[in-house]
Amino acid sequence: MTELINFVYLLSAVLFMLGLMKLSSPATARLGNKLSMAGMALAITATLLNPEISSFKMIIIGIAVGTVIGAVAAIRVKMTSMPEMVALFNGCGGAASALVALAEFQSAGSSFSSFNMVTLILSVIVGSLTFTGSVIAFGKLQGLVPSRPVCYPGQQVVNALILLAVAVLGVVVYQDPANLLFFYGIIGISLLLGVLAVIPIGGADMPVIISLLNSYSGVAVAMTGFALANNALIVVGSLVGASGLFLTKIMCDAMNRSLANVLFGAFGSGDSAGGGEEVAGGSGGSVKGYELEDVATVLENAGSLIVVPGYGMAAAQAQHVVRELCDYLEEQGVEVRYAIHPVAGRMPGHMNVLLAEADVSYDLLFAMEDINDDFSDTDAVLVIGANDVVNPAAKTNSSSPIFGMPILNVDEARTVIVLKRSMNPGFAGIENELFLKDNTMMLFGDAKKSVRDLLSALKE
Ligand code: TAP
Repeated sequence: MTELINFVYLLSAVLFMLGLMKLSSPATARLGNKLSMAGMALAITATLLNPEISSFKMIIIGIAVGTVIGAVAAIRVKMTSMPEMVALFNGCGGAASALVALAEFQSAGSSFSSFNMVTLILSVIVGSLTFTGSVIAFGKLQGLVPSRPVCYPGQQVVNALILLAVAVLGVVVYQDPANLLFFYGIIGISLLLGVLAVIPIGGADMPVIISLLNSYSGVAVAMTGFALANNALIVVGSLVGASGLFLTKIMCDAMNRSLANVLFGAFGSGDSAGGGEEVAGGSGGSVKGYELEDVATVLENAGSLIVVPGYGMAAAQAQHVVRELCDYLEEQGVEVRYAIHPVAGRMPGHMNVLLAEADVSYDLLFAMEDINDDFSDTDAVLVIGANDVVNPAAKTNSSSPIFGMPILNVDEARTVIVLKRSMNPGFAGIENELFLKDNTMMLFGDAKKSVRDLLSALKE
């Protein structure tokens, strides 16, 4: 039976890897999800074949409760609330690993080999801190916990001391596995560490933290897998750990920030609403606000158009009307494409999700590296609520906080139309010279209203 179970685990591991590969493109992402679901169904079935299971009662109750919670969450949670849901799921993964490790320790702790004991202790530490860290991340995104960084003098030293205390307790438990009290101590301090590690990080940085916590939950699962000698847990945990770490790195690179800066820098201190002080064209140039009819005329006469969505499109919920505008322009013979910056918006894939919800064809979506050379040969660019991801300071101003961040080269297009409500900065809180350039037309107003009015003007 063990051979059969391990063979099915191997099949499920292959399905998980194929699933992950398919997730790399919006066009194949649905298939990727289905493959991964099939892998998980296989892994659960194989686990249920384990002859060591003496009663199915609690397992059936667990599956029923989990299925109801998962199904309700999947149906009811809005696309834009995905980061919160992922945070909670990560927390559940961490808690589950810690609880399994606790149960194992209570039942067979003193008979464990050294290796199993180390992995068990690591599982309980990482799982516990992932749980409370994820709950705090969820609370920050939901506004239940202050979203600003909560900092106090000597914070990093305190956190380092707490980490040291956990490590010392881990060594004590390793040497004296019969001492349950110390084991509970590890759990308690790790839970505290999760809270203290996430409260100093601003709400707007939560997507990066959630991705990192996702990686931690994978590590906790893999460690539990080693402790239980369960191959499926080892493979799945490693895949989650590695992919979460890659996603964290991709996000940090695209924001031109190091992980250390995200963890300890208290950047993005405000809420996620892209606020900040008004800059009113402070660098000497003049901002040219245009009338709707002027902008409509440019769109009417453009042969090619690239749409650049940003956080403001999400805030205005303008994606549906943007698709209507682009459909209309395409019918009029304009070549329309969308340029997607990897960190446009406030969560990974934010723009892809919104545009998919509005039924924009995947063929029209282009990643930054695939479209950046085309701006110089494009008649018009329509920037909808994007700011930092099109800020030329990232290329030209070495003293700018975003210097070095890869941006969309919209300033190279013949005409740049920017839809936003004011001269307020975006997430990075800095002014944007793009808005002062001669080839830029500012159309001030809520993005949804502006796009709807543009469409009406074009149809008249
Ligand atoms: P931002 O630079 O944040 O700019 C968004 C702009 O949208 C603002 O300047 C705002 O200007 C405008 N806006 C807000 N509501 C609007 C509305 N209703 N109608 C029209 N415009 C509206 O956005 P971006 O260019 O997408 O850049 C994303 C930023 O977030 C980057 O700095 C990135 O590093 C950071 N970030 C991203 C992520 C991920 S994973 N995507 C995670 C954390 C942080 P007004 O107020 O003048 O309208």
